[in-house]
Amino acid sequence: MEIERVQDVSSSSLLAESIPSEFIRTEKEQPAITTFRGPTPAIPVVDLSDPDEENVIRAVVKASKEWGIFQVINHGIPTELIQRLQEVGRKFFELPSSEKETVAKPEDSKDIEGYGTKLQKEVEGKKAWVDHLFHRIWPPSCVNYRFWPKNPPEYREVNEEYALHVKKLSETLLGLLSEGLGLRRDALKEGLGGELAEYMMKINYYPPCPRPDLALGVPAHTDLSGITLLVPNEVPGLQVFKDDHWFDAEYIPSAVIVHIGDQILRLSNGRYKNVLHRTTVDKDKTRMSWPVFLEPHREMIVGPLPELTGDDNPPKFKPFAFKDYSYRKLNKLPLE
Ligand code: OGA
Ligand code: NI
Repeated sequence: MEIERVQDVSSSSLLAESIPSEFIRTEKEQPAITTFRGPTPAIPVVDLSDPDEENVIRAVVKASKEWGIFQVINHGIPTELIQRLQEVGRKFFELPSSEKETVAKPEDSKDIEGYGTKLQKEVEGKKAWVDHLFHRIWPPSCVNYRFWPKNPPEYREVNEEYALHVKKLSETLLGLLSEGLGLRRDALKEGLGGELAEYMMKINYYPPCPRPDLALGVPAHTDLSGITLLVPNEVPGLQVFKDDHWFDAEYIPSAVIVHIGDQILRLSNGRYKNVLHRTTVDKDKTRMSWPVFLEPHREMIVGPLPELTGDDNPPKFKPFAFKDYSYRKLNKLPLE
C-alpha cells in the first residue's frame, strides 16, 4: 500500500485552502486556542564559552530543573557545518517522492529508521502535519547507510562530520549535568550506556499548512531520549509547556536547543525534568528541524542512579531496559 505523505497532503490542501479533517485538532489542542498570548518567558540561554565553569553548571542545572530545555550558544559546532547539514537535508526532502521512497522505512520493519510519516493515528484519530527521516549516526557499528540518502551526494560526509560534533557537545553537556548532581563527570554518560549509547538523527519536514490555527506538527510529548540536541531552520514552531501554558520558543540563529528527555529524568531520580513540547506549522513556509536523540542501547537498563537515592530519597522510577521502556511508552502501558 502506498503511504500518503504530508508533503502531498500539503500541496492539495494549499490548492483547496482547507485541510483534511483528520488534521484538525480538538479544541483542547488547537494552537490558536491554546498558545499563551501574554508576555512569554524566554527559554534559558547558556553560553558555553563562559570561562567560569561553575557559572555554566549553575545555568545548565537551573534550566534543567525549571524548564527541562535550554538553548546553548558558543557550543563549538561550526555554524557553517549546521548550515551544510540543513542544506543537504532540505535538498533530500525537495527530491521527487520516488527518490525519497528509496530510503523509506520498510513496511515490516520493527525499527524506526527510514523516511516516513507517522501511520498510527493518535488518540481521537488525529494526524500530525509532518514527514520525517530517521537514521542512526553513531556509533559506527549501529549505522545503516541503507537509510541515509544517496542524494545529495554530500549527505553522508556532512552527517558523519556532524555526528562527531554532536557527540562531543552531548558529552560536554552530560558532564555539566553530572557535576550539577554532585557526581563524577562521566556518571550520566555511563548511565546511558557509555560508548554504546546511540545517536539517532531525525529530520522533521513540516510543509506549509493553510490552517496553522487548527493543525499541529508533532503533538505534545516528552522525548524518549536521555537528551536531544536540535537545530531548527528559521521558521518558528517549537512550543514548550511550562506553568500550565504553551509558550513559543524563540529562534536564536546558530544556537542548539537541548531537551532533557525521559532517561535523564529517570537517572536523576526526577531532579532534572523532561520537557513537554510540541510544534506548530506555518501558513506559507516549510519548517524543518534536525533533532539528534542520544539514547541508551536497547538492552541498557535505566533507572535512578544509586548515588542519588537513599533512605530519605527513595527511587521515584522503576528501572527498565530501554527497549521495554520505549515499547511501554509507545503502547501506553504502565511504567510503574
Ligand atoms: C521531535 C520534536 C521539535 C521540533 O521531533 O521530537 O520535538 O522543533 N521536534 O521540530
Ligand atoms: Ni521531541
